Amino acid sequence: MKILVCGGAGYIGSHVVRALVERQYDVVVVDNFSTGHGGAVPENVTVIEGDIRDQILLKRVFEEHTIGCVMHFCANSLVGESMEQPIKYYHNNVYGTLCLLETMVEYNIKKFVFSSSAAVYGEPKILPITEETEKNPTNTYGETKLTVEKMLKWMDVAYGLKSMVFRYFNAAGAHSTGEIGEDHDPETHLIPLILQTALGLREKISIFGEDYNTPDGSCVRDYIHVLDIASAHILGMEKLMSGGDSNIYNLGDGKGFSVKEVIEKTKELTGREFKVAMAERRPGDPATLIASSEKAKQELSWSPEHSDLDNIIKTAWKWHLNHPQGYEV
Ligand code: UFG
Repeated sequence: MKILVCGGAGYIGSHVVRALVERQYDVVVVDNFSTGHGGAVPENVTVIEGDIRDQILLKRVFEEHTIGCVMHFCANSLVGESMEQPIKYYHNNVYGTLCLLETMVEYNIKKFVFSSSAAVYGEPKILPITEETEKNPTNTYGETKLTVEKMLKWMDVAYGLKSMVFRYFNAAGAHSTGEIGEDHDPETHLIPLILQTALGLREKISIFGEDYNTPDGSCVRDYIHVLDIASAHILGMEKLMSGGDSNIYNLGDGKGFSVKEVIEKTKELTGREFKVAMAERRPGDPATLIASSEKAKQELSWSPEHSDLDNIIKTAWKWHLNHPQGYEV
């Protein structure tokens, strides 16, 4: 039985692929390389270039490989872009997932691990956010993730397709070897932007708003190391494979750090000085997002071992130092 990882050349998918290979799983990757990188996937993994909306391609994959479980990371994930191009987001994130699920059902593959987001919650009224917190996406990206979550519920009812859904908070960090890491174009995420500034590749880092209702006025986020996200996916997949029921889990570290704190910590750990500027609020940013991940800890025996902020920044820094321009391919 092989594991099919759709989007296995992307930031989170590639760390999951690496973790699966390290645990001796036989992995097949499908990726359209719209945002993924060939250099992010280990050389001994079968990589099929193609789009999940191409069902002829998917059928070929399911005919040529005996797939036990599908892990799905293909998505467009830029919040701002999702507000300007909702069709692109519905097309790839919702319709693409539907194509994948339809083909899975046709081939009687009924284990599915799905990459969702804290964006399904929107602006929470109560912290920390549990899985039961009201879902109120404030952007198209979050809405597309919630739409897929709802689809999955009915796929289980009708076809017995079992799914594990993981809602990530702020994914960050890199593999401890520094061989794979975060490489987005354009980059919009805080930690890689700070590190690019520390490397001298950017003139300054801007703090988007310092008048939020938080201790220092800048936004507070719950940063979770990509390797902890990877380990949760494997635990979830293994639970499904041993007959577990469908479920949904938050993945965060349960601690909040402000933008200013992350910048100061990065200066300390890199030993680099760089320019910090104040800027306007970025539309749609909630003041504080902090997860409760008690459910994943209790039910999956998951523990976020890599997620202290020092380790997140140190591993991301190692990746950026080794690959200042990102992947070569
Ligand atoms: N920020 C800055 N300056 C920058 C970039 C970001 O101040 O140059 C701030 C943002 O305003 C925010 C914080 O840093 O307050 C973190 O921003 P990111 O863009 O790194 O992450 P987000 O919290 O906006 O987004 C993350 C995921 C999304 C997901 C969202 C859920 O990356 O995929 O959480 O709310 F949708």
